[in-house]
Amino acid sequence: MQTVTTVAALRQQITAWQECGEKIIFVPTMGNLHAGHLALVEHAKTFSGKIVCSIFVNALQFDREEDLQNYPRTLQQDIAALEHDLVDMLFIPEHEEVYSAENQITVPKIPLNQQLCGIFRPGFFDGIVEVVTRLFAVVTPDTAVFGEKDYQQLVIIKQLVAELGLPIQIEQVSTQRAKDGLALSSRNAYLNDAERILAPQLYAVLSSLKKQIEEGSRDYIALQEQAMLQLTKVGFRPDYVAIRAAEDLGEACYDTDFIVILAAAWLGKARLIDNILLQIT
Ligand code: PAF
Repeated sequence: MQTVTTVAALRQQITAWQECGEKIIFVPTMGNLHAGHLALVEHAKTFSGKIVCSIFVNALQFDREEDLQNYPRTLQQDIAALEHDLVDMLFIPEHEEVYSAENQITVPKIPLNQQLCGIFRPGFFDGIVEVVTRLFAVVTPDTAVFGEKDYQQLVIIKQLVAELGLPIQIEQVSTQRAKDGLALSSRNAYLNDAERILAPQLYAVLSSLKKQIEEGSRDYIALQEQAMLQLTKVGFRPDYVAIRAAEDLGEACYDTDFIVILAAAWLGKARLIDNILLQIT
């Protein structure tokens, strides 16, 4: 695996590959890699081409200074995991390299940035749209891989690519979970032992909504309120529970057949998010 830290070195190798007709498959990350990230890499490997992975802790998407400072950084372990996984290139830029004046971009306004998690984390998705646009501009991937765990991010990135008319195929990979159902996330590291035992309740509550919808319940407002109460009862501080159209995260109506149940809830110092996709037949 080649490791590069500058856009110039990245471009040189990617251009050489593209001149030989190679496709570029891109897996952007913020590091602290776990099985969820490695599933993205595994998915990338199902495409023919060169796999480029990035590790960049993007300051623009952190709303609270302490969260940026405390974000887990495990670079040596990450490099070992990616080498083992046969990634072709790892891009580890500094802040100035990504946010340089030479890397000129146009960032479109995506209204979905201000909804759901965007209400509770102002500027969060604007920061993601900014960095992903910048990374796409230098990596010029044919395919980019994202996890369904960050479902709102995934929909926003699809909208970004459509808005800019970028020829990039966005691939999504299902959420990887611990045996007890907790979605894998770097932020799980903020849970203490007692909170870690409680944490799978988030998925359990969403699963119970899924079951009720499968059994015919369509009063989505009541279901959302019920889930908020259940989460509060077991010790979470929920930001929201929302049942939305999976396609664009618009309101889910009685006849919306592909829906997503999403939630964000605090447990101690950790803000956990999770979702379940559901096709109603
Ligand atoms: O999902 C993430 O890890 C980050 O939001 C991303 C897409 C790498 C942008 O910083």
